[in-house]
Parts: sequence; C-alpha cells; structure tokens
Amino acid sequence: MRTDLPVVSLTQLPTPLHSLPRFSAWLDAGIEVWIKRDDLTGLAMGGNKLRKLNFLVADALQQGASDLVTTGAAQSNHCRQTAAAAARSGLGCHLVLRGHATDRPGGNVLLDQLLGAKLHWAGVADTRQAMAAAVSQLQARGRQPYAIPLGGSTPIGAAGYATAWLEMAQQARRQGIDFDAVVFATSSGGTQAGISVGAGDLGWPGELHGISVDHKVPHLQAVTTALTQATAELLVVSSPHPVIIHDDYLGGGYGVMGAPEREAIQALARNEGVLVDPVYTGRALAGLIDLGRRGILHGRVLFWHTGGTPALFAYEDDLALGE
Ligand SMILES: Cc1ncc(COP(=O)(O)O)c(C=O)c1O
Repeated sequence: MRTDLPVVSLTQLPTPLHSLPRFSAWLDAGIEVWIKRDDLTGLAMGGNKLRKLNFLVADALQQGASDLVTTGAAQSNHCRQTAAAAARSGLGCHLVLRGHATDRPGGNVLLDQLLGAKLHWAGVADTRQAMAAAVSQLQARGRQPYAIPLGGSTPIGAAGYATAWLEMAQQARRQGIDFDAVVFATSSGGTQAGISVGAGDLGWPGELHGISVDHKVPHLQAVTTALTQATAELLVVSSPHPVIIHDDYLGGGYGVMGAPEREAIQALARNEGVLVDPVYTGRALAGLIDLGRRGILHGRVLFWHTGGTPALFAYEDDLALGE
C-alpha cells in the first residue's frame, strides 16, 4: 500500500486495542469481543474523523487553504472534529449544519462553538448547495476555502482508515491474536472504504460487518463501492476486502435512539466503563449484540469504536435509564 501521501498529526496514535471480558460474559453468545478505541484519537473528545482529517488537512495546507468548510447534521461529530482540526492547524472553520439554531446548544454544537467554528444553519435546505454558497462567500472575501464533503469521505480521507487497519493489525500481531470478524458503524462510507482497503492490502481472511446507521443497503453499497475503488486506486491496493453491510438496525431512523441502542450503551458502560453514543456506535454495538445472539458472529470479534460520545449530552431525555 502506498504510504507517501501528505499527512499531519492531529491524533495520538496508536489508539488502545483491548478485550472486553465482562461485556463478552454479559453477552453470553460464545464470542470474545475486543474493542479498538478510536473514541480516544485525542483531539477535542476524539473520534474516527480525525484519522481522515490527518490526510485532508495536509491536502488543504498543501493547497494553501485559509479555511476548512464542511457540513453535517446538527450533532455531527465530523463537524466538531473538523473545527478542532482547523483550530489546531491555524485555519478558519465554517460548518454548514442541517436544521436550526436552538436556544441552548448542547453536545457537539456547544463544542463547535467553543472551538471557534462559524456555524451556518441550513434549515431544511440542501446542505450541498448551502456549502457551495458558504464557499463562494469566502472566495468573494479573498479567502481560500477547502471544502470537505459530508463525513470527510473522499479517497484522501479514507486513507486514514486504511492506515488505521495497518495500525490495528500490528497491535494484534504484537498481542499474539487475530480477529475472525470486525464490526463498525458505517454512514458516509469513508471509514468502511479505508478499512476494506487496509484489510485487502494485508490479505486478512476474516469478515467485515458494516452496521448502517442511516441508509438502506442498495444506496450504501453503491456509494461505498465507488469510494472503495477510488481509495484502492489512490493507495495502489489491488483487492479491497468485501464488507457485509447490514441495514436491519435503522430503527426509527437517523439519530433516533431506541431500545437496542439503549441496551448497548448501558451494557458497555456498566460492564466495562466504556461509553458509546446514541447515533453511531450505540447502534453499531446493538448490531454486534444481535449478530452475536443470532449466531452469525463467531470466535474473536473486534468492535471498532468510532467515537461520537459528546452526542450523549444531546440525548439527556432519551438516556434517562433508571436503575
Ligand atoms: C461516531 C461515528 N461513527 C461512525 C461514523 C461513520 O463513519 P463514515 O461516515 O466514515 O461512514 C461517524 C460519521 O459521522 C461517526 O460520527
């Protein structure tokens, strides 16, 4: 795999890789669950997007950018991490967020503001158009904006997860273990594309399970096939590893927390002291729990924690868990 792309270091790597013995015993599905802690990538409460931003910010700096511009949901972890990456790199940051400003900003919105990002509320308008407008406004003021698409899911961004796979594989080798399956949340597809390329590069023989948090399989399959191919071309990897995408866990839709996410959040918190979020990693872990109970997973299974925990504080009412 090509390793000479420009890269900056926004992250503290490697993130921990460790077993979850008490969670595995709680699940009682005959599998040994491990976790890769990309909630601990280091900057402004961490998450998967910082790995992508290591490569995207390097590209932006090389192009002489003055500002990063990106978009996402109001509680976007990607936007919060982009704001942190911009602050760390001495760049301006403009975030085009879906929805409307609220009187009491919570969770990631509060952090976006603390990190100094300029927020553009798009209401129900198409965020791609709103982002293009923000880019044009900056250009008209003589700035040099660098536009990052939703989720940072470009081949350059996805390179962050191809290298993450190499990091994880090295850690596993040093600990004398290997995984039969790896489970992770997938949405805009960059994490999945990178993982698929990294695993393909090493010829890993296990199963990759992507738990969709918002899209049905045909849409996500189309998006990720194109992105994975482009990432593989960029990194000169001939055979990306196939990913089994699951859309059985969409529940009430994007960002709607239900009983499976609540069970997953509570089980990991109370058995291991590790927090997952209501939107992405709680849903992905709920998927792992269900796949385990149905006997679809076997052996040693890695749950790749992709972050998102600041969003917990935007779900106070839903998270009133009781005893
Ligand atoms: C916490 C978390 N996990 C997973 C994902 C999904 O990653 P991707 O957009 O690369 O599919 C996101 C995306 O925003 C996220 O914030």
